[in-house]
Amino acid sequence: MIRIGIDYYPEHWERSMWEEDAARMAALGTHVVRIGEFAWSRMEPRDGEFHFDWLDDAIEVLSSHNMKIILGTPTCCPPMWLYQAHPDTLRWERDGKPTDTGIRGHRCLTSPTFRKYAGRIVGEMARRYAGKPEIFAWQLDNELDSNQCTCPACRAAFRSWLKEKYGTLDVLNKAWGNEVWSGEISDWEQIQPLLGRGNCPNWYNPAWLLDYERFCAQSTADFVQFQCDMIRSFDPQAVITTNACFPQHMPDFHREFAPLDVASYDNYPPILLPEDPEEPYSNAFALDFVRGFKRKNFWIMEQLGGPMGCWAPISPAMEPGMLEGYALQAVAHGADLLSFFRWRTSRTGAEMFCHGLLDHNNVPNRRLKELEQLCRRLEKLPGLGDTTVHSQVAMLYSADQEFALKNQEQSKGFAYWTQLRRFHDACMNLGVDLDVIEEHASLEGYKVVIVPTHFITEPEVVARLEDFAGKGGAVVVTCRSGVKDKNGNCILGQELPTLFRNLCGCHVTEYDAIGPAVQNLVVERGGDYKITGWCDLIEPDTAQVLARYQGRFYGGTPAITKNQFGAGTAYYVGTIGERAMYRTLLIEIFRGNDIPHMLLPQGVESSSRVGEDGRYQFFFNNTVHGQNLRLDGQKVHLQPFEMRILTPQGTWA
Ligand code: GAL
Repeated sequence: MIRIGIDYYPEHWERSMWEEDAARMAALGTHVVRIGEFAWSRMEPRDGEFHFDWLDDAIEVLSSHNMKIILGTPTCCPPMWLYQAHPDTLRWERDGKPTDTGIRGHRCLTSPTFRKYAGRIVGEMARRYAGKPEIFAWQLDNELDSNQCTCPACRAAFRSWLKEKYGTLDVLNKAWGNEVWSGEISDWEQIQPLLGRGNCPNWYNPAWLLDYERFCAQSTADFVQFQCDMIRSFDPQAVITTNACFPQHMPDFHREFAPLDVASYDNYPPILLPEDPEEPYSNAFALDFVRGFKRKNFWIMEQLGGPMGCWAPISPAMEPGMLEGYALQAVAHGADLLSFFRWRTSRTGAEMFCHGLLDHNNVPNRRLKELEQLCRRLEKLPGLGDTTVHSQVAMLYSADQEFALKNQEQSKGFAYWTQLRRFHDACMNLGVDLDVIEEHASLEGYKVVIVPTHFITEPEVVARLEDFAGKGGAVVVTCRSGVKDKNGNCILGQELPTLFRNLCGCHVTEYDAIGPAVQNLVVERGGDYKITGWCDLIEPDTAQVLARYQGRFYGGTPAITKNQFGAGTAYYVGTIGERAMYRTLLIEIFRGNDIPHMLLPQGVESSSRVGEDGRYQFFFNNTVHGQNLRLDGQKVHLQPFEMRILTPQGTWA
């Protein structure tokens, strides 16, 4: 069964409204309600004075309508008294100063004082609610980002982390290449978190930055482990998650979710689709990425329920069909539970125009109707919850690439995510399921592995890819792979793609970081495509040429190659192309590797979930226009944002 839930803030509403709210939620067909994640000042209004009666009451009211509870720990919003009494609990900004209070999320996850108070409130909650049948699961904190804090506790912790990693300053100086700009460190105290003065992180040593990013991400992961251990010490059976988002400073999600039972994500797909037809906007990428955190089905803790308008002007209204369609898109990619943000639009506070399912007027509206329709539709598909996504194609992701490429943009506009998204976009459009997996994850069961911009390259990862290709798999490597070693320094004395050269059977003689300029490329077997961002000028060793550049001084030079490697193949893509280029390339690869695919109109996605009963195939129109498909000779029409589901029985649901 797929569970539908609601994010609810009982502390925002009069007690007299709870009963009616719970009854209405249940009548719509929802099953779960998430509460509590920001309510610390209500749970502990003064130091050590705990008030849980109101929470007990809310849980009772909601449960009496058969709603299961997901209980949030409130550590994202420490109360004002804590900052006043203990300013060392505040997060410090990159400018080396404490952040402002009165917002949220402004606590340092490393601060020992914060840990003490956070541990206490979480422990009190766990003690009180452990084993209660009403509690379905726990959500830790809210949308944790990487703890990029520069407070004294973080400075000290960063130094200890480095001491542990490198042992001596000699080793650290060598690893970071500190001979440049007299950067040699002679005392551990000289090491700081990297501050943003002058607003120019690009002047810092990238190796230092990389370790700083790793350390901050580790602090977040440690905080998750800390809360998780606290809850489990009272309730070993507790089901625990935290709600991921993709903030400016990304944590290392795979590390963060390792101790948790299930991955979850706050899913806010675009209300306004981009005008640029080349922008891969589909949230399917985020969904497949999140499924990869634990390589299993996941939850949505916040699902788009109304027009946005929190820290930005109010967004346009949601299109008809969007609420239901986007929710089913998440289901199609492996979501087993979706909790909608939020029941009613807030009357007060910074998010008073971030719309929930209900507007301020509290009157049933078309969004609520769509939610009800969604619930009724899913009720008719009880077997769907027992299915999972089975992919023959994987894409490698690693936090290190994200960290390193964010801090050292390779050409103007070059972004790791864009590279990942472009391949993903083409797979969706060809109806091919794709897993986004961590670079060290097993490759077993896949036929094709896509490796976009593997900037920081470990020999062990390359060896596994060679083994995979040698045994018959296909590997796709793209530009800016094999550039750096694990320390974040350039690999010397080998032509790019260095460690990947053997696998790809080609090398790069020169590159052209063209940034936003647009050029052309011609595919040998026909078709020319626009390219941008980067051009590797390739010379094949053993590879065959699939596409060549057009124009500039390197017109005719290979841009994409294919190499026979053992029983398999390796492709090298030296540039970044328009959407259609990926489609053409992937069609060739899928044909060569017996991966069934279909040609769908742009913006239409197909993916599947499979279980003992068979396959549920999803067809989603992620555009504002009606679209027609031909499936086995049958004409299928999709309204804007409509999702149609072909059941194992061959009927449409
Ligand atoms: C999320 C957050 C929610 C709310 C929502 C508004 O990022 O977790 O608490 O702020 O955005 O869109």
